[in-house]
Amino acid sequence: MTLKMFNVHYFEKVDSTNIKAKSFKENSVIVAEEQTKGKGRFERIWFSSKGGLYLSLVLGAKDANYLTFIGAISVNKAIKEVYGLNTTVKWPNDLLYKKKKVCGILTEIKRDKVIVGIGINTNNIIPKSLENKAVSLNKIIDKKIDNKRLLTNILEIFEYYLKLLENKKYSKIINDWKKNSFLGSKVKVKTLTKTYSGIAFDIDKDCFLIIKDKNNNKIKILEGDVLVK
Ligand code: BTN
Repeated sequence: MTLKMFNVHYFEKVDSTNIKAKSFKENSVIVAEEQTKGKGRFERIWFSSKGGLYLSLVLGAKDANYLTFIGAISVNKAIKEVYGLNTTVKWPNDLLYKKKKVCGILTEIKRDKVIVGIGINTNNIIPKSLENKAVSLNKIIDKKIDNKRLLTNILEIFEYYLKLLENKKYSKIINDWKKNSFLGSKVKVKTLTKTYSGIAFDIDKDCFLIIKDKNNNKIKILEGDVLVK
């Protein structure tokens, strides 16, 4: 496979690739070695020291939920293809290795564009305060990660799934996401208004999470933080 679709722009240091991406046109990819103001969901900080892989894709107005899913599938598959490592996709935007975060995705809509920001802990050092929650790939496999190679793989896979999205192959995308996902795990979900406990049961056609509580009630989760127990 070769990259046909994306124009990749490399930077040594930026505030945030998602911010930088705003001034680029559709099908650009902004990649940085370091971010000084990496952003996570809910206005959280995304630690972005040198060595990690930080990128943002600028895409045309398409379904943002699906694009987040495509981001997660692409990183999950690329890590498997290049390093033979299985990571788990957690709704809505994380990749985990043994319950620790390896990758986070922040999808933002800016007028007619969707920006999919992907942060992967590859060779960056995880701050002590986060060591029980996050891990870098180089620690797991005890080898330096080739960020360029991983990036190329991610973009190739992303491109393939974008075509599926254009062709409205929604269930194929959802099913591929589910293949390496956390579905079946016990979870606690904190939404803006409530906390739920149950089993991560399914993903619906709009990419929302369905959990099953202890009384077998199915609850649709539209937003929130999911903790895998
Ligand atoms: C999260 O898990 O809360 C999402 C984290 C997303 C981080 C990435 S790093 C590249 C892009 N630029 C940012 O500022 N954020 C995203």
